[in-house]
Amino acid sequence: MEHDYVLQIENLETKFAIGRKTVNAVNDVSIKLRRGTTLGVVGESGCGKSVTALSVMQLLPKAATIRNGKILYSPKPGEVKDLLEFGPNSKEIRRIRGKDISMIFQDPLSSLDPVYTIGSQILEILNAHENLDKKEARKRIVELLGKLGIPSPEDRYKSYPFEFSGGMKQRVMIAIGMICNPNILIADEPTTALDVTIQAQILALIKCMQKEYGTSVMLITHNMGIVAEACDDVAVMYMGRVVEFGALQSIFDKPMHPYTQALLRSVPVLGMGKDKELESIQGTTPDASIVFAGCEFEPRCPHACAKCKEAHPPVLVFEDGHEVRCWLYEEGKAI
Ligand SMILES: Nc1ncnc2c1ncn2[C@@H]1O[C@H](COP(=O)(O)OP(=O)(O)OP(=O)(O)O)[C@@H](O)[C@H]1O
Ligand SMILES: [Mg+2]
Repeated sequence: MEHDYVLQIENLETKFAIGRKTVNAVNDVSIKLRRGTTLGVVGESGCGKSVTALSVMQLLPKAATIRNGKILYSPKPGEVKDLLEFGPNSKEIRRIRGKDISMIFQDPLSSLDPVYTIGSQILEILNAHENLDKKEARKRIVELLGKLGIPSPEDRYKSYPFEFSGGMKQRVMIAIGMICNPNILIADEPTTALDVTIQAQILALIKCMQKEYGTSVMLITHNMGIVAEACDDVAVMYMGRVVEFGALQSIFDKPMHPYTQALLRSVPVLGMGKDKELESIQGTTPDASIVFAGCEFEPRCPHACAKCKEAHPPVLVFEDGHEVRCWLYEEGKAI
């Protein structure tokens, strides 16, 4: 293995059975997270980002099933286990969840329980995984709350969620995610509900924690600006598939997939001239229950050719590790 990966998702397929319909939420997804780095998973609403993350955690809704794939987790170099070999309720997964791999959920503001204090909610996670006496546990939580920029953490330990602002609640969610010093932190749109200044603070906090504890981060977002600021590698998803994957620099300097190119044109990115008009991507994402014979992006693609309708493009891997799923490159036509 060339790189040291802490997580490798291989050919993951997760589907929902809704009545007689099958929703192909995650289709043959392979994603690699290098140890100690941040991977951005980006794409429009409904492309399968959250379902991919929930598949890793095995916290899927009842209607969902993982049909295929591997979730290879490497707690340390040279040691690998496929998490899908353990069931979602197995002792192994329960031990790994929260301790080795933790997740900040997309809707954190409603995931805090209104009837318990902030401190007791963090304590519950800590107690589930570590055997600390009460005083020690409390000290560690207060310390973390302080590091996360919560003023007077001693007092705030005893506060209830309603006594916190949105940004502060978000910090508490990060504390819940970080309290056991996980190897992997999956942050699902951790800043979407927050204003821009708080967004920047939260991202800086995650980075800071990463530096201190060597945490590997999978950062889910639909915002390319956030990707540019916070990530080392990027996976671009479209309709349940990873259409492009590569190092940040490579994706931004040389976006290959027409969808990535469109994404980069449609969002303001730091450093890009303010006067440049932002384009929106033409068309809308089709219904996820539609099965395509060819590339899912073909109906919206300005470069589509006959082949794109006929069959799924294979993954093309370039020397620098940049990967793309697009017939144009297979045919040798650079765009
Ligand atoms: N509980 C559910 N029941 C049925 N279908 C679902 C459910 N959750 C997700 N899906 C479907 O799975 C697909 C992927 O959804 P997912 O939530 O992973 O998207 P996402 O990329 O996280 O989008 P967003 O940016 O809006 O959070 C979508 O087609 C969605 O409609
Ligand atoms: Mg989501």
